[in-house]
Amino acid sequence: MSEQNQTPNPLLQGLNPQRQSPPLVFIVFGASGDLAARKLLPALERLSRRRQLAAGFSVVGIARTQMSDEEFKKLALESVPDFGPSWEELVKGFRYISGEYAHPDTFEELKKVLSELDDLYGCSGNRVYYLATIPSLFGEVAQGLKDHGLNQAKDPNSFVRLVVEKPFGRNLPSAQELDDKLHSCFEEKQIFRIDHYLGKETVQNVLALRFANAIFEPIWNRQYVDNIQITVAESLGVEHRGSFYETAGALRDIVQNHVMQILSLTLMEPPSSIDATGIRNEKVKALKAVEIMTPQEVAQQVVRAQYSPGWVNGEPVVGYQLEEGVSSSSTTETYVAMRLKVDNWRWAGVPVYIRTGKRLPKRVTEVALQFQTVPHLSFSQNLVTDLEPNVLVIRIQPDEGVTIRFGAKVPGQDFRVRSVSMDFSYGAAFLEETSDAYERLLLDAMVGDATLFIRSDEVNQAWQILEPILNAWSENAVPVYQYPAGQWGPAEADQLLAKEGRKWRKP
Ligand code: BG6
Repeated sequence: MSEQNQTPNPLLQGLNPQRQSPPLVFIVFGASGDLAARKLLPALERLSRRRQLAAGFSVVGIARTQMSDEEFKKLALESVPDFGPSWEELVKGFRYISGEYAHPDTFEELKKVLSELDDLYGCSGNRVYYLATIPSLFGEVAQGLKDHGLNQAKDPNSFVRLVVEKPFGRNLPSAQELDDKLHSCFEEKQIFRIDHYLGKETVQNVLALRFANAIFEPIWNRQYVDNIQITVAESLGVEHRGSFYETAGALRDIVQNHVMQILSLTLMEPPSSIDATGIRNEKVKALKAVEIMTPQEVAQQVVRAQYSPGWVNGEPVVGYQLEEGVSSSSTTETYVAMRLKVDNWRWAGVPVYIRTGKRLPKRVTEVALQFQTVPHLSFSQNLVTDLEPNVLVIRIQPDEGVTIRFGAKVPGQDFRVRSVSMDFSYGAAFLEETSDAYERLLLDAMVGDATLFIRSDEVNQAWQILEPILNAWSENAVPVYQYPAGQWGPAEADQLLAKEGRKWRKP
């Protein structure tokens, strides 16, 4: 077909042109673990399949587990069930180092391997270190890299970056301690704190919806919005991660990071530019406007709970305390709901309700803006059936899209009105398969775009908001309620809204 005859597909217009990593070595600490096999290696495979990795790209895995280069290569292939030929080719050059992070030999060996790879593949001295170890080892690894001169670029044209996985500390002091440690080894601009929610297309769509349209922003404020509800619900339990979850709980595992990120994107002011500094400055400002609760407010505005036995998707499931790796007297919360107040001109008086939990009826993440009711309803009450206030829902997953609920006339002789939905669905509007969150974020780190990574002051501010809650909970000042698995949390969470004349949206 001649070029003139090729009609561009309108559904593909505006999608990203292909980006490519520069030459580099990608070094995974904790390479024998779950995260590497489930997320990192498959994301690298997809990047290689899409030809988004430069010719001089290589991988070094490091972990305490004993493994040979060949065994690591096998693991890299087995982590991706349907790998393509480009992955098979790439994996041939992978290297593996087993060793303790406290031991200088580990880093000496790394130095040697990196220089061999530079010579063999032309990786130009560029490094992206990925900390996929248990969090307690983050500081030790950063120190090891510094002690062996591996924390700095060899010349002004090359780069060294450090990608850090959540959790960023367990509370405010430990997060500050971790930050001090990382900052003593790397500059902030080298540190890329990853939250995979920011890699989700639909989380980024919050920005597009708000700042690429003229019709939403004028009503995105206290004059029109009655309340905001953020839901991060999972139907799964803690799976095989019981012993990890015992040390985390829903507040640390989901609220501190994923919910706070969605919240800041929802509340923030328009940045003057969509880049790392512009966006992150506004996100921090938004988080700073969230009121820090007093202990009395924690008792009134936060509900924690744990799932008891129940039914999910038609199957009976055990309660949290019977999960593998969980103490039979555990008080770890698998559900949190809270009401936040935001002290600024845009949001004063608009409550923000957030909830997250495991073993809820379904997996759904969404942001819903519920608008105020009309000042006067001209229709007689019996003609208005099932009319709710307007709602704008950003569906983050699994059914990605945007819904607007509004009143419409029911066909017929009467002037009956009820709420209907207007839907935009990602799957139907864009043909391109969306990238997985890790795929997107790994490539961003490789090209040095920090827009979708969390800055140190954002982490700090998120902990400031949660610190009073953790303190109140550690003093056992707040009960841990129960909810049967497969239900939308405990009755006390409904009360949180009911006492203000509102209710949770049914996603
Ligand atoms: C992780 C949490 O960060 O996010 C898990 O540690 C949770 O507990 C997961 O299940 C949810 O991610 P997603 O992308 O499936 O919503």
